[in-house]
Amino acid sequence: MMRRRAFGRALFGGAAALASASQVEAKGEAEALPRDSTDAPAALSPGDAVCVADFRRIAAVQLPRPTFEYIETGSADEVTLRDNVAAFQRIKLLPPILSGVATTDLSTTVLGVPIKLPILLAPVAAQRMYHPHGALAAARAAAACGTVFGVSSSAANSIEEIAAAADGPKWYQLYVPKNRNIARRLVERAEKLSYKAIVVTVDLGEWKDADRRNRFMLPREMLLKHLQDVGFPDVDPGMSHDQLIAYNAAAWDQALSWDFFDWLRSATKLPLIIKGILRTDDARRAVDVGLDGIVVSNHGGRRLDGVPASIDRVAAIVEAVGGKAEVFMDGGVRRGTDVVKALALGARAVLIGRPYAWALAADGEAGVRRVVELLRDELQNALVACGCRSVRDVPKSLLLG
Ligand SMILES: Cc1cc2nc3c(=O)[nH]c(=O)nc-3n(C[C@H](O)[C@H](O)[C@H](O)COP(=O)(O)O)c2cc1C
Repeated sequence: MMRRRAFGRALFGGAAALASASQVEAKGEAEALPRDSTDAPAALSPGDAVCVADFRRIAAVQLPRPTFEYIETGSADEVTLRDNVAAFQRIKLLPPILSGVATTDLSTTVLGVPIKLPILLAPVAAQRMYHPHGALAAARAAAACGTVFGVSSSAANSIEEIAAAADGPKWYQLYVPKNRNIARRLVERAEKLSYKAIVVTVDLGEWKDADRRNRFMLPREMLLKHLQDVGFPDVDPGMSHDQLIAYNAAAWDQALSWDFFDWLRSATKLPLIIKGILRTDDARRAVDVGLDGIVVSNHGGRRLDGVPASIDRVAAIVEAVGGKAEVFMDGGVRRGTDVVKALALGARAVLIGRPYAWALAADGEAGVRRVVELLRDELQNALVACGCRSVRDVPKSLLLG
């Protein structure tokens, strides 16, 4: 009973999402292969994957169905989820010919940190559910690819464990505990561990039918470790699963307002990024309160359904910000050409969520590395075809209309 009632809140912040043990044990057969299926052979192995969709297909076979659906699905009728991908497909490239370009420099910087390509790993919760090495594997893959790993507050490993796993650049994504002493301690820990930025995710409140149907939530062991890792002092190892779920549901601040950033600025010297902006007035406000970065995002269509595709908001937000903060975007990036479109609209870099979650499920660290490399190669190929010498100079004129 408690489990049912607390469920919606338990999923808040991605802080508590994992299936019960029995659900996890039942390996999902990809009987009705979920949406977006490709014509690739069903028995594809990770080494044969040639695109993001192939990793998705492998994950659909490997993962228990509730776990696959936790990654895959979006809120309510999934209008925004679908539009994130469809909006990229609506945008057309119009490349100039004979530009004499044979190769493109993919390296850039994000908030002063050099990276080898403008594709970052977005914060994704519960990664140990997808692969036993979870976020540690993803962190290693990001470091190997020379990019930023966005560490979810709910990644299912502590920020210390993730820092020890790989020394590549990391951003710490903060869900905010109501107890501000714990929040302060978290950002201090991230700073001490040389994380490069704090990302505050502000689009809260997941409402996914599939997860409610599957009663998907963190297993007791993982939820207990998660709450202990965050640093809630009164979490007791003797607490039952229901008690932990109730504790978790009450622990996080779901009613943040702008003054939170004054507090956060006083708590850390790290660059601050806000994730979940779609409106130009909010983007201007973010600049006014001194934030360093903005992620144009609708949380991969997992929060409020019916909001626009992220890519459709990038140009307006870049214009509103006027160069006073770096603008990133995520949601629906599945191809190198999507990255070209985002850069042409003024994004500094993109983040991917599901693509690397599927690849992690398919083949751990090697899978995540491979999916980033595939996108990198697609990006390189597309930029050469568009006559661009550098990802730092992708003109808007490449886009039709
Ligand atoms: C399984 C899953 C878990 C996620 N967990 C978090 C999270 O803990 N914190 C967060 O800020 N965003 C989270 N997100 C959202 C991603 O950071 C990102 O905004 C989104 O995945 C981008 O869309 P894409 O999946 O189409 O690439 C999650 C996304 C997925 C797919």
